[in-house]
Amino acid sequence: MKLLIFNGSPREGNTVEALKALYEGLADYPDIEVQEIKAADAHIIPCEGCDACMRSGDCIFEDDSIEINKLVKEADFLLFATPVYWWGVTAQLKLVMDKFYACHEEFMKCPKKVGTIVIGEAGLYDPQYEIIEKQFWCICDYLGWDKVFSKSYSANKPTDLHEQTESLAEIKGLAEIIHESR
Ligand SMILES: Cc1cc2nc3c(=O)[nH]c(=O)nc-3n(C[C@H](O)[C@H](O)[C@H](O)COP(=O)(O)O)c2cc1C
Repeated sequence: MKLLIFNGSPREGNTVEALKALYEGLADYPDIEVQEIKAADAHIIPCEGCDACMRSGDCIFEDDSIEINKLVKEADFLLFATPVYWWGVTAQLKLVMDKFYACHEEFMKCPKKVGTIVIGEAGLYDPQYEIIEKQFWCICDYLGWDKVFSKSYSANKPTDLHEQTESLAEIKGLAEIIHESR
């Protein structure tokens, strides 16, 4: 099973901490092949909506989205882990996601499971978590992908999530859910 993780945070903070907990859980499942993409490190030229990809199948810009979309096609499970920036996902992650457009017809033919981990400063009462969950679930419905879980956590300073032992235990446990989702 191939798990592709998207890390939407540009810093070493709560998302990295969440992923550390997930990796701890994944250590129990050596049959899961993991690859992580840090969106902030990817060289992505923003989609210009020229639609050339709809004719050729490729973006006219030769950026990292070509390799990333290939990895998406090959993956069985996509995990999106992102901080909340202005009630949405980070711009770094959104740049990557916009480029899915170039391959969306192919993606519709590749069944995938999807999970999300979203971390914001505001408490879980804030509508931002539902807004982001709905965004991902609409994308999944459109592409015919299966939604497996969406988890939200409230943390702000880079070390905040590190103090939340229950949250980290829950995230570690997501490894089993990913494994059993096959
Ligand atoms: C540009 C920017 C915008 C943000 N917008 C929000 C927001 O709309 N809602 C919120 O709860 N937190 C917001 N935050 C706080 C981050 O979501 C929070 O600090 C999170 O823990 C960062 O995750 P990280 O440590 O993995 O980078 C924002 C932070 C930045 C830098």
